[in-house]
Amino acid sequence: MPILSVNNIEAFYGQTQALFGISIQINQGEVVTLLGRNGMGKTTTIRSIMGLVKPANGSIHFEGKEITRWPAYRVANAGVGLAPEGRHIFPNLSVMENLIATAHNKNELDNPWTVDKVMALFPALEPRAKIKGGRISGGEQQMLSIGRALMTNPKLLLLDEATEGLSPLLRAQIWESISQLKDNHQSILLIDKHLDSLLRIGDRHYIVEKGYVVWSGDSEELRSDQKLQQRYIGI
Ligand SMILES: Nc1ncnc2c1ncn2[C@@H]1O[C@H](COP(=O)(O)OP(=O)(O)OP(=O)(O)O)[C@@H](O)[C@H]1O
Ligand SMILES: [Mg+2]
Repeated sequence: MPILSVNNIEAFYGQTQALFGISIQINQGEVVTLLGRNGMGKTTTIRSIMGLVKPANGSIHFEGKEITRWPAYRVANAGVGLAPEGRHIFPNLSVMENLIATAHNKNELDNPWTVDKVMALFPALEPRAKIKGGRISGGEQQMLSIGRALMTNPKLLLLDEATEGLSPLLRAQIWESISQLKDNHQSILLIDKHLDSLLRIGDRHYIVEKGYVVWSGDSEELRSDQKLQQRYIGI
């Protein structure tokens, strides 16, 4: 049974349809990516999974249980963690407080995340522990956003543009941390624009175009298909 199964979901913003029937599956321990140009529906898909957008049609199952249109807090409690596009850390809380504010282990996982473990995964955060979230760098905020999601002990981690706007050096640090999570069998759904890195770390990929999944396959298939890359990703 896949940990996540998204079945033909459609979603709207007001009268405007953003998703026209998206289906994706993630197996336990897999790193799966959503690819596609700007405005194609990647974030809307992740927000639908998280319960922040209510799909009009279709269904979402997490660990075999239907979670379609559940409120976000229930999805979070079930074991889905989100590091959202734009980071959205709490600017007036310290780095430490950001990590603790929403932390939980509702599903009583073994070896739960602690502040120390997050600091070990992102050593750059350690000297910033007492600084307010709004005063650390963009890269540190991104690490904090992922760390905060990990502190909810997610069985499935959703990462929306985890390296956006960061220098190559910082991007490399984030990819390294995501690799470590993968080595620990963390299931991850990843959105990013850096195809090279996604091909390296991702097991399988879905290309989203105008609210449809137009292609899915593994890294080898995508790497070898230049036409596909040009057509849908613009490389
Ligand atoms: N809050 C909103 N209100 C109205 N329309 C929205 C809203 N958010 C997104 N949209 C529209 O829905 C469509 C899909 O947007 P979405 O943010 O899911 O794309 P994306 O693939 O994540 O893009 P990007 O790569 O730029 O992050 C776009 O046409 C976008 O303009
Ligand atoms: Mg987006």
